Amino acid sequence: MAGQISQRFIDDLLARTDIVDVVSERVQLKKSGRNHSGLCPFHQENSPSFTVSHDKQFYHCFGCGAHGNALRFLMEYDNLRFPEAVEQLASRAGMQVEREGGDDPGAHQRRQKREEGVNLLELASRFFRERLALGGGRQAREYLERRGLTPEVIRDFGIGYAEDEWEALKRYLLQQGISEAVQVEYGLLVHREESGRTYDRFRDRVMFPIRDWKGRTIAFGGRVLGDAKPKYLNSPETPVFHKGRELYGLFEARQANRQLSRLLVVEGYMDVVALAQFGIRNACATLGTALTSDHLQRLFRLVDEVVFCFDGDNAGRQAARRSLQTALPAMIDGRQVRFLFLPEGEDPDTLVRREGREAFEDRVTCASPLSEFLFEQAAEGRDLKQVEGRERFVTAVLDALKRLPEGVLKSLLLKELSVRSGIEQSHFADWLSTHAKPAPSVDDGGYEALMVSAESDAEAGSAMAAAADRDINRPQRGFAASRAGTATLALSLPARILHLLLHEPGLAETLPETLDWCPPEVPDGRLCRDVVQLLRAGRYRSPQVLLAHFHGSADGERLDQLARRELAIPREVRASELESWVRHLQRESERLTPAEEYRQLLAKSRQPGALSAEEKQRLRELIGKLTAGS
Ligand code: UTP
Ligand code: MN
Repeated sequence: MAGQISQRFIDDLLARTDIVDVVSERVQLKKSGRNHSGLCPFHQENSPSFTVSHDKQFYHCFGCGAHGNALRFLMEYDNLRFPEAVEQLASRAGMQVEREGGDDPGAHQRRQKREEGVNLLELASRFFRERLALGGGRQAREYLERRGLTPEVIRDFGIGYAEDEWEALKRYLLQQGISEAVQVEYGLLVHREESGRTYDRFRDRVMFPIRDWKGRTIAFGGRVLGDAKPKYLNSPETPVFHKGRELYGLFEARQANRQLSRLLVVEGYMDVVALAQFGIRNACATLGTALTSDHLQRLFRLVDEVVFCFDGDNAGRQAARRSLQTALPAMIDGRQVRFLFLPEGEDPDTLVRREGREAFEDRVTCASPLSEFLFEQAAEGRDLKQVEGRERFVTAVLDALKRLPEGVLKSLLLKELSVRSGIEQSHFADWLSTHAKPAPSVDDGGYEALMVSAESDAEAGSAMAAAADRDINRPQRGFAASRAGTATLALSLPARILHLLLHEPGLAETLPETLDWCPPEVPDGRLCRDVVQLLRAGRYRSPQVLLAHFHGSADGERLDQLARRELAIPREVRASELESWVRHLQRESERLTPAEEYRQLLAKSRQPGALSAEEKQRLRELIGKLTAGS
């Protein structure tokens, strides 16, 4: 069996590869300044917002936020798993992939440590939960009660308590066989250089576990019970936790909602939990950092609408302006961002307590759309009755529009700008093209976006290594294995439909108007509905982009799996096959209710010998069912 690909080999491979060549083989690029640019292959666009940097060996799309190195590009574009992408790149470079055998003894250890790490955070989380329930947790329980939290919400969010002791967790974890070094690496234990001593990072704090999309604890936030400083203490960056990417409460929001359509982004842990307490279970929070494009990407993978909540004070408006800038490049058609400003001195926690759920939800409903906030923002402090004021207003709006991907939103905003400024729209087109800067520059925020992408790619490196680990743990998911199993495994109807749509997204147009035919409760039914809706919205035309949309989620894994299966149905009959599956599902969804079925069977039973053994059995079952219900 093949072993893990060594990190050394990957580094070597990347060093010998030029991303510009790799991308050029698939996308037409033009040199512009230090970068290359072209039409983004990951979303539909008419003017190029996709750039490839030779210096940084990165690609970045200002339209949809796609970014990464050469390996990530291959994974996304050719829809490959990490090891496959490595193979492909290696054969291109004429290199033989080095797998772990005896050649890198460190790797096995590293992998073991990473597993140990995730395991240890879970252990810690359970430890904190138990401590909250015990005698020593009385004050913490009282504190949470004072803040209005019920045991149900405390349980859903896995809230716990770290006692006021220096070595409680350390002792416990040592007993579980977890070394101090690992505890330090994952941020639970602090190591004092001078004395060489170690002690628990979190003491006398209410503990909020931060979970990844699978619900595994990856970090903690801890709040003091009183007024001590700092109020919140977060886990440091660790191999599994990167603040600029994670959102608190996302897992819980997904757990609580079968179908999420909108996410609320708030500032604090307590805001998320308090809203949940009031039945608003679609909020999440950034972890004491400004919104990043990684956050946004993560949000838009789950929903099409994101509402940001900001404090009504100056700091809040400042944060909103920054978020607007971050959001602009992500605004491809079909996505919506809105801004909710809270009254001064309130946060979602205090407000929902004071006003209740409905009033809060009304505020969310009335939150300003991005366009409105943008115009308001550009007009702020300017006298639009004067020519100078109008000129600045127009410049500000156009500056923002330059960062917006091509699409309906952009043309609507241009039209609106024309109305508001009294300037003919044709002038803007000129302005936008003569002043357009395809390559990001230091002062327009594009640079920041590129830096973010550069940072997160260092992380992508570890994520990829993790991906490699996952693959080795599940060898049956390898390429050859899934190919071999393709023909034999039967798929449910929605899965078959998904499979077909993944190979030929255009077929979505032939499907019935409403989605009634696809019951969300059958396996793959909900996912099938989601995919059809996305395709209908016209956002995605290529299978790759569709997969990219779900990338990193459980749905993404499932789609990946389906996309990998070969499609044996000849092109000419695909549409008719699809139609027959849908008809079949329709018939199934019109299935009889137990009462109707009972009446039919009963009528039939009046003719002697008309019922088969199964039907008799079914009739008995139905009688049992119907009488039990009454
Ligand atoms: P706030 O100070 O607004 O706290 O910080 P809060 O959420 O209203 O908390 P409560 O209601 O007093 O319990 C907002 C967010 O900023 C981060 C945390 O993520 C917090 O939830 N923060 C704040 C820190 O990381 N450290 C701090 O010391 C304070
Ligand atoms: Mn608060």
